[in-house]
Amino acid sequence: MGIDALISRVTDIDPYYRLGRVSRVVGLMIESKGPKASIGDLCKILIGRDHPPVYAEVVGFNDEHVLLMPYTNIHRIAPGCLVESTGRPLAIKVGDALKGRVLNGLGMPMDGGELPADLCEYSTHQPPPNPLDRPRIHSPLTVGIRSIDALLTVGKGQRMGIFAGSGVGKSTTLGMIARNTSADLNVIALIGERGREVLEFIENDLGEEGLRRSVLVVATSDQPALMRIKGALTATAIAEYFRAQGQDVLLMMDSLTRVAMAQREIGLAIGEPPTTKGYTPSVFALLPQLLERAGTSRDGSVTAFYTVLVDGDDLDEPISDAARGILDGHIVLDRRLAEKGQYPAVNILKSISRVMTSIVSKEEREAANRFRNLLAQYEEASDLIQIGAYKAGSSAEIDEAIRFYPSIIRFLKQDVTENVTRDAAVQQLLSEFGRGE
Ligand SMILES: Nc1ncnc2c1ncn2[C@@H]1O[C@H](COP(=O)(O)OP(=O)(O)OP(=O)(O)O)[C@@H](O)[C@H]1O
Ligand SMILES: [Mg+2]
Repeated sequence: MGIDALISRVTDIDPYYRLGRVSRVVGLMIESKGPKASIGDLCKILIGRDHPPVYAEVVGFNDEHVLLMPYTNIHRIAPGCLVESTGRPLAIKVGDALKGRVLNGLGMPMDGGELPADLCEYSTHQPPPNPLDRPRIHSPLTVGIRSIDALLTVGKGQRMGIFAGSGVGKSTTLGMIARNTSADLNVIALIGERGREVLEFIENDLGEEGLRRSVLVVATSDQPALMRIKGALTATAIAEYFRAQGQDVLLMMDSLTRVAMAQREIGLAIGEPPTTKGYTPSVFALLPQLLERAGTSRDGSVTAFYTVLVDGDDLDEPISDAARGILDGHIVLDRRLAEKGQYPAVNILKSISRVMTSIVSKEEREAANRFRNLLAQYEEASDLIQIGAYKAGSSAEIDEAIRFYPSIIRFLKQDVTENVTRDAAVQQLLSEFGRGE
């Protein structure tokens, strides 16, 4: 370390201790008398020499008391424990060395080993780019899944929702995208997953090659709500950092619903009124704040996929509703298709990319529309066709849809290991479904 760096370290030292004492703990909420701190500040609750401190964040005040939420387990906290404010919000370490690493919600490594010392600090709370500084989305990004690239084209800087029930193929699809995409790197946030699923995702879905070009942020379901929220903020901040370096970043968050649930837990604990399905107003305030941070900036882009859990087929549940209103498109994974073994189980007719029309050529748009029409025709008549009640020749359109159906299904199906570029997908779409056939 050079002398300048040493001097700046010494001048950065904050010699002033802001201390308080724990006075009460109710559920998730810790109350302390002092220290002097502002909302969002990071505090350390000191438990004793033999235990690491508990990190907590200031979330409110009550008369002279400070309300704190813990990032980690609180079972050693006792009345009178010292609370020390760091005087600033949590910052994470960012830099190129994060590639290939697995971090926890606070941006600390979980995969053993330390982070290198030359990383820079970066706050997890960042304002979204100024709307006037956001270039429009103009070029497509390959995600490596034929049906999405050709029929639901995603632009660099677009924010998409993946709506699906449990076990319909969200993780598998995200893994495929992470391995196949043309983005410079992936930032993947696993929020609220069962612990067992994390290694499964890393080893099966992502694989070694996928991990090498990804940064993983993991906050499992057993961790305190604040840690799960931080996981989402940390992953978003890492993506923003790489965007500022001029890169095209792909951010994937599995799942947004679990982030919303974590915020609901916090909201209820600090006494917010519950609204629809118990979600509190701060949940609906958090979602746009989080999702608006992805997108384009003058330097680079963050293209984002957020998974949203839908119970049954209820697409009108409050979180899906809110997410659909903010995002630039949605991909619906359909259980009926998964049950038939049609993977990836994308329901093309229920999915939409709101940016597609302005980033693809006229021929492509026409071929994609024709594909949709043929599929819609077939589905409308499928009951009749399946029971053999449809007589060939009764409708020229249905005849055509029946003729095309096998190639439609062949186009939609893709093996997990099959890597298709967008160019190849579009070529196939034009040659099979373009007007020229
Ligand atoms: N593209 C695919 N090809 C073949 N099988 C698939 C594919 N996608 C999913 N599956 C099957 O579906 C199962 C569940 O997939 P996955 O774990 O990706 O779903 P999920 O939506 O992430 O589930 P959860 O809600 O539990 O997180 C897999 O174990 C696999 O058997
Ligand atoms: Mg999953």
